Parts: sequence; C-alpha cells; structure tokens
Amino acid sequence: MTIFTLIVAIFNLLLLSKASSTDTLTISQSLPDGTTLVSKDETFELGFFSLRNSTNRYLGIWFKNIPIKTVVWVANRDHPLNDNTSKLTITSEGNLVLLTKNRTVHWSTNTTTKPRRPILQLLNTGNLVLRDDNNKSNNKSFLWQSFDYPGDTLLPGMKLGWNRKTGFDRRVTAWKNWDDPSPGNFTWGITISNNPEMVLWNGSFKLHRSGPWNGVRFSGAFAGSNSLTTHPLYLYKLINNEKEVYYTYTSTNKSVISIVVMNQTLLSRQRIIWIPENATWRLFQTAPRDICDTYNPCGSYANCMVDSSPVCQCLEGFEPKSSENATDLSQGCVTSEPWRCRVKGRDGFRRFVGLKFPDTTNSWVNRSMTLEECRDKCWENCSCTAYANVDVRGGGSGCSIWFGDLVDLKVIAQSGQDLYVRVADSRTVNSQDVHADAKDHRKKIALLVGTTVPPIVLVILLAIVYHYRRKRKHEGENVSVKKDEAGGEVDSMELPLFDLATIVNATNNFSTDNKLGQGGFGPVYKGVLVDGQEIAVKRLSRSSGQGLTEFKNEVILCAKLQHRNLVKVLGCCIEEEEKMLLYEYMPNKSLDSFIFDSAKSKILDWSKRFHILCATARGLLYLHQDSRLRIIHRDLKASNILLDNNLNPKISDFGLARMCGGDQIEGNTNRVVGTYGYMAPEYVIHGLFSTKSDVFSFGILLLEIISGKKNREVTYPYHSHNLIGHAWKLWIEGIPEKLIDSCLEDSCILPEALRCIHIGLLCLQRQPNDRPDMASVVVMLSSDNDLLQPQEPGFLIDRVLNEEELRFRSQTYSTNELTISLLDAR
Ligand SMILES: *[C@@H]1O[C@H](CO)[C@@H](O)[C@H](O)[C@H]1NC(C)=O
Ligand SMILES: *[C@@H]1O[C@H](CO)[C@@H](O)[C@H](O)[C@H]1NC(C)=O
Ligand SMILES: *[C@@H]1O[C@H](CO)[C@@H](O)[C@H](O)[C@H]1NC(C)=O
Ligand SMILES: *[C@@H]1O[C@H](CO)[C@@H](O)[C@H](O)[C@H]1NC(C)=O
Ligand SMILES: *[C@@H]1O[C@H](CO)[C@@H](O)[C@H](O)[C@H]1NC(C)=O
Ligand SMILES: *[C@@H]1O[C@H](CO)[C@@H](O)[C@H](O)[C@H]1NC(C)=O
Ligand SMILES: *[C@@H]1O[C@H](CO)[C@@H](O)[C@H](O)[C@H]1NC(C)=O
Ligand SMILES: *[C@@H]1O[C@H](CO)[C@@H](O)[C@H](O)[C@H]1NC(C)=O
Ligand SMILES: *[C@@H]1O[C@H](CO)[C@@H](O)[C@H](O)[C@H]1NC(C)=O
Ligand SMILES: *[C@@H]1O[C@H](CO)[C@@H](O)[C@H](O)[C@H]1NC(C)=O
Ligand SMILES: *[C@@H]1O[C@H](CO)[C@@H](O)[C@H](O)[C@H]1NC(C)=O
Ligand SMILES: *[C@@H]1O[C@H](CO)[C@@H](O)[C@H](O)[C@H]1NC(C)=O
Repeated sequence: MTIFTLIVAIFNLLLLSKASSTDTLTISQSLPDGTTLVSKDETFELGFFSLRNSTNRYLGIWFKNIPIKTVVWVANRDHPLNDNTSKLTITSEGNLVLLTKNRTVHWSTNTTTKPRRPILQLLNTGNLVLRDDNNKSNNKSFLWQSFDYPGDTLLPGMKLGWNRKTGFDRRVTAWKNWDDPSPGNFTWGITISNNPEMVLWNGSFKLHRSGPWNGVRFSGAFAGSNSLTTHPLYLYKLINNEKEVYYTYTSTNKSVISIVVMNQTLLSRQRIIWIPENATWRLFQTAPRDICDTYNPCGSYANCMVDSSPVCQCLEGFEPKSSENATDLSQGCVTSEPWRCRVKGRDGFRRFVGLKFPDTTNSWVNRSMTLEECRDKCWENCSCTAYANVDVRGGGSGCSIWFGDLVDLKVIAQSGQDLYVRVADSRTVNSQDVHADAKDHRKKIALLVGTTVPPIVLVILLAIVYHYRRKRKHEGENVSVKKDEAGGEVDSMELPLFDLATIVNATNNFSTDNKLGQGGFGPVYKGVLVDGQEIAVKRLSRSSGQGLTEFKNEVILCAKLQHRNLVKVLGCCIEEEEKMLLYEYMPNKSLDSFIFDSAKSKILDWSKRFHILCATARGLLYLHQDSRLRIIHRDLKASNILLDNNLNPKISDFGLARMCGGDQIEGNTNRVVGTYGYMAPEYVIHGLFSTKSDVFSFGILLLEIISGKKNREVTYPYHSHNLIGHAWKLWIEGIPEKLIDSCLEDSCILPEALRCIHIGLLCLQRQPNDRPDMASVVVMLSSDNDLLQPQEPGFLIDRVLNEEELRFRSQTYSTNELTISLLDAR
C-alpha cells in the first residue's frame, strides 16, 4: 500500500462524487428521510414516502417526473417505519440498511459478500444496485439489486422467473391494499418446469395462465392484427435455458413509459401507459381479459368460447360429465366412448385448430422430436391425452405431450395453435380438421384464414356431422370400416393395402409407356394386376409433408365415398418413401381429351354433354353434402372428369388435397392446390376455399363443355377477355347462343343450352355468397324454374393474378399442365 494508491483512490472518489452527485450513495454518506437519490436521466427517484391516510413511512422508488405519484418499488414493504427520523446507509459489511433514530437496524438487504468499497446507485432503468466500486472490471455485476425483489410492478428490463441453478424465484406481488404495500395474495410468476408458463395466482389458486411459450408468443396471447403488431410499444420474450427461465420486456420507444402493475382490487394484471398530454395513466391491456381468460371456467375437455352461448362447449368427441343436465358443464366433459389404449386400430387423435394449449402442469416437452414421433409417443402412453408442436416457428417443431385431463382450454381464433387430442375413434386420426368451435364459426374460420395464418394456408373443413357409432368387425392389415347407413350399397368395406412389388409389377416398373398423364400431386400410370384387372395408379410426389397414418386414414375416408359419378378408390400402397393410390381404370380417359379435340368433340353431342354436366353436378353435390364428410374438391377441371365406357363422367382426384396434407400446417409448405384458370378469385387471391369455390370451378367447366374452349386459351380479337369474360360479354349483349360450340349446331336443344350458360354465369359470380350451392345447381339443371340474373363474374380478364403477385407468392408450377402450388411467402 503506497501513498500513490491512496492518492489515486482519493482522486477516484472525488471524480466519482462529482460526476454522479445525485444517483450514488457511498459508504460515508447516508440518505435521511426527506432527501432523495435521483437516477442520472432523472426518470426515477428513491426516497421516503407515506401513503394517503397512513402515517407509516416507506423507502421506495417512483417516477420523478410523473405528477401522479407512482411507486414502483418499496424496500421495507412489510416493515413500515413509524416516524420520519430514519435514514438509509451502507454498512461496512456492504449491507444496505434502514436505521432508526436510536441506530437499530430496521431493514437490511442481508448481503453476504463483503465488498472493498460498496456504493449504492439508482440506475436509469429504476434498478437500485449495490456494487463494489473497487472492482472496475466487474461494474456490471451487483452485490444486490432491487430488480431481484420486485414489488407490484414489473419495469422494463426486470426478470420475472427463476434462476434454475439456485432456485431463486422472482415474482411480482400485489399490495395488500392501496394503503398497505405489504405482499398480498395476488401474485404473478412463472411455473418452473420444462414447459413453463406465466400464471396469476390468488393465494394458491390459479386465476389466469398465459399458456406455454411457442417460440414467438405465449399460446394464450392474442397475435393481434392491429397496428400495434407492426409498431409495438414494447417487445417481450421468455428466456428458457438450463440456467434460467424468465419473462422480460423492453420498451421500443424510450419516451413512452409503459409498465405492468398488479391491481389487487380487480385481481387483474394491467399494462398501463403514461399519456403526458393528459397527465394520466391509460390502461392498455389487462389479464385476465374475460371469463374465458380466467383459469379453467369450463372444466376438463371443454372449450371456452366467449362469443358463444353457452360459453362452454365440450370438445368434439366428448360429452358433459353430468349426464342429467346436458347444459351443465361445471364438471367438464368426458370422452364419449372410452379410450382403448394401445388396441390396434383404436384411439386416434383429432386435430383442433385455434386453441390455447391446456394447463402444462402435467406435460412433458422434447424440443427435437417431430410431430409424428410425438404422436407415436403419445399413442403408446395410456395416460397421454394430447400432443402438439412446441414451437410454431418454421412450420412447427418439437413435441409437447399432456397427461391426464386437459384443463383450461379456449379458442383463440386469431393466434391459437393446433392441438391433437386423443379420441376413441381412430378414423379421425389427424384427419378431421375440426375447428375447435366448429359449429357456428364459419366466419371465424374465414377470419383466421384471411388475416392471421399466412393467407394461403387453408385449414379445415369437415366437421363430422354425426358422431356415429360403429363396431369393428376385424382388426388386421386390412382396415375394415362399416359403411354408414346413408351410403347403403356395401355393408362393410375393406381397403386393401397393396405392396410395392405388386404395383411395380403391374405398371411394368412405372414405365413411360404406362404413363397416363401427370396430374396435381404426381403422375398416373396404367397397371394390370395378375388377375387381369386394370387399374390406374397415382404415384404421389414424395414431398407431401403428411405422415403415413394420416395419409392412410385420409385414403380410407375417401374410399368410403362411393357414388356412381366418383372414381372408385381401390386401395393404396404405402411403402418406404412411396405413397400411391389405386383407382379403377377408365379407358376413355378424361373429358378434356374429348371436348377440346376437334375430332373427338363430335362424339359428344348435346345430349351427352348435358348428361355429363348433370352427372358431374350430382357427383360434386355428393362430395359437398351427401357424404358424411364434406369434401371440397379444390381442383375440379375437365381433366379430372374421367369417362367410363358409356361416357358416364366420374370425378377423380377428390380428397387429394386432404390426403396429401394440403390443408395441414405441417412442414413448410402451406400450399394452395388447384389449377390456374379454374380457381375462384377468393381462393387465388386470399387462399379462401369453400364449397363455393368448387361451384366457381364447376361454372367454368360448364362453359367449357358448352363452348368447347378452354377458359384460359381463348383469345378474342377485340378484347383481352378469357372465356368467362367472353361469355359475360355475349350475355350482356343478349347473344349468349354465340358461345355454343359450333359442332353442337345440329344436336343442340337451344333453351337447354341457354339455361346452362345462365346457370354457369350464376356459378361464376364474384361474391361466393351470391353463387348457388350444388344442391341448387342440380335443381336448376333439372327443372325450368325462373333463374336469378347473374352479377358480374370474377376474373373477366385473365391477368388478375399478375406476375408480381405470383412472384410474391413464389409460385411453383408442378406440372406442364397448369396445376400449380402456391407456396406462401414467409
Ligand atoms: C417529520 O414529521 C414532523 C411531524 O410529524 C414534521 O414536523 C417534520 O417536519 C417532519 N420532518 C421531515 C424531515 O419530514
Ligand atoms: C382517509 O380516511 C378517511 C376516514 O377514514 C376517509 O374518509 C378518507 O376517504 C380517506 N382518504 C383516502 C385518500 O383514503
Ligand atoms: C429503538 O426504537 C424502536 C422504535 O423506533 C424500538 O422498537 C426499539 O426497541 C428501540 N431500541 C432501543 C435499543 O432502544
Ligand atoms: C434480512 O434478515 C432478517 C433476519 O433474518 C429478516 O428478518 C429480513 O426480512 C431480511 N431482509 C430481507 C430484505 O430479506
Ligand atoms: C472483480 O470481480 C471479478 C468477477 O466477479 C472477480 O473475479 C475478481 O476477483 C474481482 N476482483 C477484486 C479485486 O475483487
Ligand atoms: C463499467 O466499466 C466499463 C469498462 O470496464 C466502462 O466503460 C463503463 O463506463 C463502466 N460503467 C460504470 C457504470 O461505471
Ligand atoms: C389471503 O389469503 C388468506 C388465507 O388464504 C386470507 O385469510 C386473506 O383474507 C387473504 N387476503 C386477501 C387480501 O385476500
Ligand atoms: C381470492 O381468494 C380469496 C381468499 O382466498 C377469496 O375470498 C376470493 O374469493 C378469491 N377471489 C377470486 C376471484 O378467486
Ligand atoms: C416515440 O414516442 C414519441 C411520443 O409519443 C413520439 O413523438 C416519437 O415519434 C416516438 N419515436 C419513435 C421512434 O417511434
Ligand atoms: C385498478 O383498476 C381500475 C380499473 O381499471 C382502476 O380504475 C383503478 O384506478 C386501478 N387502481 C390502481 C391503483 O391502479
Ligand atoms: C386526452 O384527452 C382528451 C379528452 O379527454 C382526448 O380527446 C385525447 O384523445 C386524449 N389524448 C390522448 C393522447 O389520449
Ligand atoms: C342445467 O344447468 C344449467 C347450468 O348450471 C342451469 O342453468 C339449468 O337450470 C339446469 N337445468 C336443469 C333442468 O337442471
């Protein structure tokens, strides 16, 4: 120890006390009642204060420049001082203490490390820190900091949560009441598990859960669609690693003060923002927001939907637990049929979209597993009731599985996630994209599709209309399914699984000679089985992101659709990387090979064409309405209408979009499937599809059959219209008969043909709601009732979807034909 070091030390001391005269307290100083410490930027102030009617004195921190005294931290919250004679000092041990007049220690930070030269500083963040001024290399680490002991306010930069190594937990605790800052029963913290979430507690009762973190936000949080998403006032995150798990947020604009406080009178957590012009705090967000945001209002397996009546509804496949009173959901719901765990062919998972994930108390997480592995893991464990992706980024990853009853479920249309819930009926495995509030929430689905999830992702469909019971006759490689009563024809149907060798043999190893064509999702080959039966084999491209079980179940579902105007599915082959569908073989190929061919078009006279139109309409109606599943075809076009020996039409490729996972938000491909030139405007532009988009495609098919021209390939000398535009023009000019194919001149029954054009234009109206449904189309085709006047159709001109737009959606043309898949830009 030399004179020199002493001089340096004194010099430092002088320098320091000069530079930070107000924000720092050294060991030789004290802060008596009536004086304050102010942060360098003058945002925060530390001092003694009393509350309204009480004479108790507290040491605390508040905003210096906000006229409404807003205390954000209290040191001695449960040890009030009873007069104004105390002072704050630092002891030689490095403890921060409150000393009363007779020099007894009233409150202490109880620091254990002994520093050389402790100083106290009030930082610009509002953090009061005690650190060793002797250790310059260590000026970031603190001996003690007020941020580790939050009061009822979470300031930007504070951590809410755990140090996993030491077990130290930081929670925000409301005051007992507005005159007493001591810790109340209302607290906010993080549950410590490998699937943490934020929880608000009233004592030991949960009041609200945030839902687990999904990589972007909490599962229960609104994604929001307002301007605040694009210009947020604050950014928040959940850090979760081996060392720590905590929530924190930062302000994006330093001049906007936004904090989170606990309001114990309402038992609500409130984010408030200071409005300087009006000198008030404005309430910005609260939690819980509504009844469905409180903890588990509906009981297990029940979904809370705040806009519905009743608010609570059992998940599809579940029924109210109390059987006497079906509207009483206070006890939650139970599975309609008992689960039969690990029995082959039993127990599947139904996908519910748009949900806040259930309570994670009994859950387990693995971040590296795929969704498929996750399902298998869940299927094997008899107490596993649901699974889901952990992280939504990059199309979803990781595995989260739940054990025991699923509680605190709710629908968050805008930002909810997919949850796969165990159901007793294996046929529903991942196939029913049941929107969690399927019943009367079409609008929400549209909203969901239109505004949140990438516009092109299409979710959904199909609610099983009836939950029907069935008995399984047989379990084995062949999956046996009992036909529903409405279908009637066959009592029980088996879907054979063919092995790859059989198919390779039948198609002559997929030789090009056997290739019948190339459709969406893959090429089609002709094959002959050993018994001489001719088949068509659709070899699906390998890229489809769907799992095998889902695929198989989709095929089984579609194989059950039997109608004389649908191509029969004979079986499938799933082996290694291959997925193939076997159809009955149609020697006459497809409709487009007739109507667009100058020679063959003569074979189809008017009565045959009219028959094809009516029969196709009936096939489509069956898909839309009469089958138990509601199938939206999504790629109806002349090349998908096959003709049998008697020139009866059969719709093919139905359900492919489902089978190939076109509706799934799995992997990275959220594809719009369909064929440019047949797709409805709302589908091309917004990715919205419905039975009405199929009606639109049917309208085009109808005009093509009558005119013998392809929608996209028509060019007219004086205008840039496509076939639709041309038909509309002729219609307005009062000469629709000019549309009729010249080769029909002799056979045509003019009123019938004109009526068809009229119906076609009704199907092509721009607004989906204006278009008739297929049931009306079938009626219109077979009767001579008056028809409404059509509104202007969508897509008069072919260039609605311009190059720019296509590039934006990074399109890929999957075939030489015009079947396209639009990949959504992320
Ligand atoms: C302390 O309180 C007494 C009366 O209670 C008052 O007269 C005095 O001014 C106060 N002193 C300070 C420093 O606030
Ligand atoms: C203070 O106490 C009186 C009497 O108990 C009460 O009337 C008054 O409203 C209280 N003031 C505040 C600000 O709480
Ligand atoms: C010091 O004062 C406090 C009240 O301010 C009292 O409770 C305590 O007993 C006193 N201690 C001594 C040693 O006088
Ligand atoms: C410090 O320790 C004392 C005695 O163990 C305890 O009463 C007090 O609450 C502690 N102070 C803090 C701030 O934890
Ligand atoms: C300064 O702090 C660092 C990091 O905490 C520590 O390793 C070092 O020993 C300290 N130096 C002194 C002189 O206390
Ligand atoms: C902390 O130390 C770094 C260099 O080690 C220095 O740049 C910084 O100003 C110091 N901060 C404070 C608050 O002393
Ligand atoms: C806090 O909980 C305790 C016991 O659980 C209860 O006696 C007390 O009244 C509660 N306090 C408040 C403010 O609710
Ligand atoms: C909170 O807990 C208290 C006491 O434990 C109880 O009286 C009160 O009803 C609870 N409030 C809510 C909203 O659960
Ligand atoms: C920050 O907020 C202030 C006050 O509302 C505003 O004037 C300023 O433009 C904002 N700055 C930024 C970068 O948004
Ligand atoms: C608690 O919340 C209510 C409703 O927002 C509000 O009127 C009241 O001022 C809040 N109390 C405090 C102290 O913030
Ligand atoms: C301030 O208050 C006035 C009237 O109450 C209101 O019209 C205005 O929008 C407020 N300003 C802000 C920034 O909230
Ligand atoms: C059934 O339960 C509901 C909700 O608890 C109740 O409002 C209704 O009166 C009950 N009905 C019968 C018949 O008990």
